[in-house]
Amino acid sequence: MAVERTFSIIKPDATARNLTGAINAMIEQSGLRIVAQKRIRITREQAQTFYAVHSQRPFFGELVDFMMSGPVVVQVLEGENAIARYRELMGATDPSKAAEGTIRKAHAASIGENSVHGSDAVETAAIEIAQFFAGNEIVG
Ligand code: PPS
Repeated sequence: MAVERTFSIIKPDATARNLTGAINAMIEQSGLRIVAQKRIRITREQAQTFYAVHSQRPFFGELVDFMMSGPVVVQVLEGENAIARYRELMGATDPSKAAEGTIRKAHAASIGENSVHGSDAVETAAIEIAQFFAGNEIVG
């Protein structure tokens, strides 16, 4: 199985509740390695670019506003099959449908304020990582 990198965001609802460490513990206990991490505020332009694929969906404006509403922690996670493994660890987008043991089941409040983002494919992971990290900020 291939070693992959995936892009993660700990979202404003989670940083507001001081959950960065708890979520990082779940990530590390799963065997994924945090190879880059920084706490930032996302600008409107960054959020609109990041979620451009959803720009026609009714919740787009709400999603952009939410992502700007407080600090986020952007991360690169590395491991075998990291993209699918992190999606599984996050749980379903809607936390009421998320499985036991997942980050969203443990911490997320709603489908909008759902604590974490993870890339959905190899191509999108590369694009998302490059939006927030220079190559020399990732230390494997
Ligand atoms: S997914 O993971 O792409 O299959 O999920 P999807 O349902 O397509 O949702 C894409 C992102 O939009 C967010 N979302 C919402 N935000 C606000 N309000 C509503 N109703 C809503 N529905 C979905 C969802 O959290 C996903 O964000 P990311 O950061 O990609 O996980």
